[in-house]
Amino acid sequence: MTKLVNIDAVQTRINDYLANKLESLPINDEKLLAAMRYGLLIGGKRMRPYLAYITGAALNTQERDIDGIAAAIECIHAYSLLHDDLPAMDDDNLRRGQPTCHVAFDEATAILAGDSLQTLAFDIIANHDFSETVSAKRINLLRHLVNAAGYQGMCGGQALDLAATNKAITLAELENLHSLKTGALLEASVIMAAECSHQATETDKKQLALYAKLIGLAYQVRDDIIDITSTEEELGKPAGSDLAANKSTYPALLGLQGAQEKADNLYQQALQALATLPYNTQSLSDFATFIVSRKH
Ligand code: IPE
Ligand code: IPE
Ligand code: MG
Ligand code: MG
Ligand code: MG
Repeated sequence: MTKLVNIDAVQTRINDYLANKLESLPINDEKLLAAMRYGLLIGGKRMRPYLAYITGAALNTQERDIDGIAAAIECIHAYSLLHDDLPAMDDDNLRRGQPTCHVAFDEATAILAGDSLQTLAFDIIANHDFSETVSAKRINLLRHLVNAAGYQGMCGGQALDLAATNKAITLAELENLHSLKTGALLEASVIMAAECSHQATETDKKQLALYAKLIGLAYQVRDDIIDITSTEEELGKPAGSDLAANKSTYPALLGLQGAQEKADNLYQQALQALATLPYNTQSLSDFATFIVSRKH
């Protein structure tokens, strides 16, 4: 695989893929399709695709295989944000510097656009033009995606997050909640990319999964920190949203400094997991550095 490890190149590639995928759909309802486009194509750092591509590059996979994985995961992520912002959930009105989908359209359309983006992810895994060996692993890839996105993963974590609002929970409960709601999809970005490799051994995959678990958790810890320390302008979404909603977060439990120490600790452990791997994992360790220092 040509080393597609530059974030701008990843963004262009994945945006083109997703735009083409939406283009290829029949127009049943123009408004719904416009809301899907809004949720999927306007902004977004594309961190999960980036993680999939850099994992793929480290393990010598084919770029065309990672295209399908990155696109499917980003569809799940985009849908999760449309639903996360709804009045029944976080009730936020700004996302990626724009009005949230239910504000720009209406609630019913935002719900349906989320539903449609979720199924689009499975459409992609089922129909993407994977290489022959990866094509034979579609069921396995679907299994990983289901685990990360559904009750056992992101949705389960979102439910725990809502249940923990206005309530004191333990650190262990918070860690579980964060790992599910945000960690699971980031983890899937690494694990599914590793599934496309001929080279990665089971031991390698275990270490990569550990790295992914650690940075997946760190991503949400940092998200909770920047909710407090960054401005709405930097974030492109409302600042102080967690405090206003009385959410259980790492800063709420440990204080700001304690939360950053937690993120740094996860970061060090993630680097240790990478150090055992016989590949060039520089991009993966750079990504971990980005995660614990990001401001938006
Ligand atoms: C925001 O995700 C929600 C979390 C899971 C923390 P991102 O920070 O990846 O958001 P975008 O896609 O770049 O807007
Ligand atoms: C979002 O967590 C996690 C998912 C969307 C699955 P947050 O609620 O903290 O995300 P933001 O801060 O609204 O982006
Ligand atoms: Mg939320
Ligand atoms: Mg939210
Ligand atoms: Mg947040």
